[in-house]
Amino acid sequence: MKRIGMLTSGGDCQALNAAMRGVVKSLLNSGQDVEIYGFLNGYRGLIYGDFKMLTGRDFSGILTVGGTILGSSRTPFKTIKDPDENGLDKVEAMKQNYYKLQLDCLVVLGGNGTHKTANLLREEGLNVVTLPKTIDNDLYGTDMTFGFQSAVDIATNCIDCIHTTAASHGRIFIVEVMGHKVGYLTLNAGMAGGADIILIPEIPYDIDKIVEAVKQREKNGSKFTIIAVAEGAISKEDAKLSKKEYQKKLEKSKYPSVSYEVAAQIYEKTGQEVRVTVPGHTQRGGSPCPYDRVFASRLGAEAGKLILKGEYGFMVGYRNREIVKVPLEDVAGKLKMLDPDSTIIKEAKMLGISFGD
Ligand code: F6P
Repeated sequence: MKRIGMLTSGGDCQALNAAMRGVVKSLLNSGQDVEIYGFLNGYRGLIYGDFKMLTGRDFSGILTVGGTILGSSRTPFKTIKDPDENGLDKVEAMKQNYYKLQLDCLVVLGGNGTHKTANLLREEGLNVVTLPKTIDNDLYGTDMTFGFQSAVDIATNCIDCIHTTAASHGRIFIVEVMGHKVGYLTLNAGMAGGADIILIPEIPYDIDKIVEAVKQREKNGSKFTIIAVAEGAISKEDAKLSKKEYQKKLEKSKYPSVSYEVAAQIYEKTGQEVRVTVPGHTQRGGSPCPYDRVFASRLGAEAGKLILKGEYGFMVGYRNREIVKVPLEDVAGKLKMLDPDSTIIKEAKMLGISFGD
């Protein structure tokens, strides 16, 4: 008998259910008897002992369903060691619930913050296996995270829709793409949607270069311009500020996000109207794309294999087209960013895409 605790933590994404289904199916199909404890709403469920018992049936019919059957929440790592409002030691509480239920291991699905806590639990002596989820694809130790390709589809569809109206009206349009502090999602959706200018956090922009690119398009006879802007895009001047100074600037800013600031600056410098579209959380919603269904199922199956072998302390990741196990201590606390000198950026530039640099 294996007693498994499972939880999904942090911002949700597509294929969380597919991944959990993969874990459970692979365990059950091996003939292993399994008891599954589904902790509700991320680490919160583990802290407060809020769980439901699940059977194989609960994982049936969820391959294509977005969201997570367990619910999710953000439990910031930076305050995980602080007592809660009632003085409860959260780390100790998670350990006690784990031992009380006599779990063999925890299966944790999450992104960066989630992995820091998962690694802490490993250091505290719990058996942990993790799976890499996030639309941002910014998790260290894996070339790909599930959710990413589905989000690329949605953001690309948004740019495609903007394209036709931009062409009709001869306007400049900005589409703001999620991705937190990294540009994978914006770069991929931008290239797939044929954006003319792509702004990502890893390549700070110069507004004059953006205006130059817009004017050059006009000179070449193009009546419209599509700009894909990462929510974390940053200007060259702002990139020189300290973290604190930049935070202060954002707090004082009259713009809801960087895209609106870029739009106002383009208007100021060209007199041309700019429209901003923010698909926001739609990028995390809905059914996973086929790639993510397959990918998450494979990762889940491999996680099941690790559990059967009793190999704990790993994230099941994907590197150089192979599914691999990555030690949690190598993943936790590191951010995977786009390399501005990577071939994909060079190729995008060869296609005439401006990065505003
Ligand atoms: O990490 C996934 C993500 O969707 C980011 O792309 C985005 O910056 C953030 O989560 C939004 O977080 P929340 O759902 O808490 O607003």
